[in-house]
Amino acid sequence: CGIVGYVGGQSALDVVLAGLRRLEYRGYDSAGVAVLADGGLAAAKKAGKLANLEKELSDRPLPSGPTAVGHTRWATHGGPTDANAHPHLDNPGRVAVVHNGIIENFAALRAELADRGHTLESETDTEVVAHLLSEVFSSCGDLAESMRQVCRRLEGAFTLVAVHADEPDVVVGARRNSPLVVGVGDGENFLASDVAAFIAHTREAIELGQDQVVELRRDGVQVTDFDGASATDVRAYHVDWDASAAEKGGYDYFMLKEIAEQPRAVADTLLGRIDAAGSLTLDEVRIPDSVLREVDKVVVVACGTAYHAGLIAKYAIEHWTRIPCETELASEFRYRDPILDQRTLVIAISQSGETMDTLMALRHAREQGAKVLAVCNTNGSTIPRESDAVLYTHAGPEVAVASTKAFLTQLVACYLVALYLGQVRGTKWGDEVGSVVRELSEIAREVEEVLETMEPVRELARSLADKNTVLFLGRHVGYPVALEGALKLKELAYMHAEGFAAGELKHGPIALIEQDLPVVVVVPSPRGRSVLHDKIVSNIQEIRARGARTIVIAERGDEAVRPYADHLIEIPRTPVLLQPLVATVPLQVFACELATARGNEVDQPRNLAKSVTVE
Ligand code: G6P
Repeated sequence: CGIVGYVGGQSALDVVLAGLRRLEYRGYDSAGVAVLADGGLAAAKKAGKLANLEKELSDRPLPSGPTAVGHTRWATHGGPTDANAHPHLDNPGRVAVVHNGIIENFAALRAELADRGHTLESETDTEVVAHLLSEVFSSCGDLAESMRQVCRRLEGAFTLVAVHADEPDVVVGARRNSPLVVGVGDGENFLASDVAAFIAHTREAIELGQDQVVELRRDGVQVTDFDGASATDVRAYHVDWDASAAEKGGYDYFMLKEIAEQPRAVADTLLGRIDAAGSLTLDEVRIPDSVLREVDKVVVVACGTAYHAGLIAKYAIEHWTRIPCETELASEFRYRDPILDQRTLVIAISQSGETMDTLMALRHAREQGAKVLAVCNTNGSTIPRESDAVLYTHAGPEVAVASTKAFLTQLVACYLVALYLGQVRGTKWGDEVGSVVRELSEIAREVEEVLETMEPVRELARSLADKNTVLFLGRHVGYPVALEGALKLKELAYMHAEGFAAGELKHGPIALIEQDLPVVVVVPSPRGRSVLHDKIVSNIQEIRARGARTIVIAERGDEAVRPYADHLIEIPRTPVLLQPLVATVPLQVFACELATARGNEVDQPRNLAKSVTVE
């Protein structure tokens, strides 16, 4: 969910609505606002996208005032209805609360409130907070203090922002788990789940830590812990990108812009990390080399697209370092009692740095004594804060829900980690690794080259708009690429799409092949591991013999596949392990174009949210 709060000299409602527009990627099931004006509190909320709320506000405008909160929701408990939308109010509507997370003991608190004579209108946990705040406020008259007292009673993960009509110049926030950032302005202050909400007004930010409460006034910001003690671990920082980075910049969709930004993003991830002599300097990796030398197992944890980056990382890490590496879905890893110790290095990959499943996995890993290295795109977010070290991907803000540039840069970061581990351990630090480092510096140009030749891919996508199923096959690092291609298509085109290891074809999936079924095959380079290449050429023949329409992604000059490809998509030559950086790009373009052809929302696919801050 996305949260915004504002107090200052501008029309608070306008500021909050503009902020919500920037945060809509975090959830778009419903939206709402509350504004303090004329000694009272006025609120509006609507199911569906923010546009519905905006229409409601133009039909029935709210009064203008200096203080407001807003929310855009990704439904967890309770359907996306007007009534379940935030903010929630107490009765008679003096307090408004917006909330991200789940309050686990809400049923007990609700029963208590009912016993004390409160009438609650919804079944939501958030309404319970509004009533509790109102009750405490009536005895102490201070909203920040009320928030502290209430938070001490809440169990679960919650980020809350509240306003009270009796304190019209105050916005109060509380954070446990999902993020909350203060934007520090001049005579005005902002509160939001993400700096994007206020970047048009200020680039000075303060990230709240765990279990902190913030009180925002026009001229000041006060942060305490839940007990009221002044907070010590408050991190102020300057945001190093500006509002234009969070805008579409002439593209129809954020996703198109982000796909196009990939060469630059990849170059930025590499910047300053490889020196002229070809050695790596990862200054941010604060885990001492002596500890890295002792690592005897690497475990990569992540979700969604980041997980696919992790699957590819496994091939690179094991090949270049000879350390056993496993990659696991964070949500599975956490609950299966994994074997870890001080010699385990856990790599947590997350674009947002907030994904709750990944956060829980890393906490579990640290409790077992493992060292955690985060690969993350969001400065100061929770996952890097709680890790032993972080390698930022520097891709710039990614707004489209389906991940593109974050994925490519996660791959680059993982290659860097693998090479660095190889470097400090002195393993396989021979010709191959040296040439990989050289090739990495060429990779941005190669991604650019792929982008320049995408028109036939778009045309092909449009011609497949009426299909129901597309399969994806790959081997070695091409297998996770196939999984990622299928995920993109599910997310964006809502088509049945599956990725398989091509070797598994004969063990089941081949039964799915029928006349004219589109099958995308990611072909490894014919150089190097030519056995793999020959095997996949056989697989292409097998499916074609059974009627499949083959869409083949292969290295330029790979003549062996040509006779069996109904559509050939050529990509530049790269070392075997780096191929996913160029092979994934056509699949992103393919999915994006198919989504458009099918009339789907590219940037905000149905049912999804970009940062999933619940388990
Ligand atoms: C959500 C998004 C996916 C993303 C996954 C992991 O499910 O819809 O696109 O890959 O979260 O996100 P993270 O921020 O941890 O990389």
